[in-house]
Amino acid sequence: MADSWLDRVVRGQEWLDPVGRGLQVSVRRGFSLLGSPGGALRDLLHGSRGLGHPLHPAVTDLPLGAWAAGAVLDYVAHFTSTVGTRAGDVALAVGLLVSLAAVATGLTDSEDTFGHELRVNVLHGLNMGLAEVLMAASLGLRWWAPLSWHPLALGLSTAGLAVAMAGMYVGGHLTFGIGTMVNRTAFVSGPTEFAPVGVAADFPEGALRRVEAAGMDVVVARCQGRLHALGGVCSHAGGPLAQGALDGTVVTCPWHGSQFDLRTGEVRRGPATFPQPRLTVRERDGVVEAHLDHPIP
Ligand code: FES
Repeated sequence: MADSWLDRVVRGQEWLDPVGRGLQVSVRRGFSLLGSPGGALRDLLHGSRGLGHPLHPAVTDLPLGAWAAGAVLDYVAHFTSTVGTRAGDVALAVGLLVSLAAVATGLTDSEDTFGHELRVNVLHGLNMGLAEVLMAASLGLRWWAPLSWHPLALGLSTAGLAVAMAGMYVGGHLTFGIGTMVNRTAFVSGPTEFAPVGVAADFPEGALRRVEAAGMDVVVARCQGRLHALGGVCSHAGGPLAQGALDGTVVTCPWHGSQFDLRTGEVRRGPATFPQPRLTVRERDGVVEAHLDHPIP
């Protein structure tokens, strides 16, 4: 696959690596300082539990919508008398306030990125951080500087919106271009009818086994005598679940520690937000067979 112009630029920016790693260390420390509530908060910010979808894209629209509305109100107020100048100020302040949710969710999602993905992530974060600084400076001028400074405040918030839009472009590339936080199992295909995956002796109690079912990568485990099977590629970033750990009916991904319930495929702990595809398993005459419960049409 050919690199986009953005990938080519980012690949040359080695200075982004220590910035990203420093941020990751700080985020990890912050969560671990909170103890077990920190783990629950991390799951909440990822969108792993309850939402079943990354939370970050849902909350980023709030500040950007408010800032865009603020820019429109600012210019309407500047060139006409149909709205007051305070309308844009309020939209700007609301945008800054709700942007805290975008910052928190974005930093949490960035904790498990690495390499090129981390660099793009840092560039996205720096863009949005600069946008916040420009917006905050504009708000400060609006509230504490003389009215004659208002055109400068308006220029700062306009520049902030432009920088935020550049950051949105980079954020879009992060997701749609290089696949950060996308559902790695979205296009999985597997057997719609029972297909053989081994014999009973292949699956001892409490051990994870990787098998193929009609070409699909599957992880199988026997828990308290019953066989369970899930798609073997982690929905978070493609980790090999069969190389992870099994505790009861919970499998832990070896890459970033996401946990899934083997019986249902549900996420028990993030950073994964999407469940694993589940397979129905049966044993007939010593042969183990499985089929995908919800095949993609
Ligand atoms: S690949 Fe990240 S937790 Fe599995």
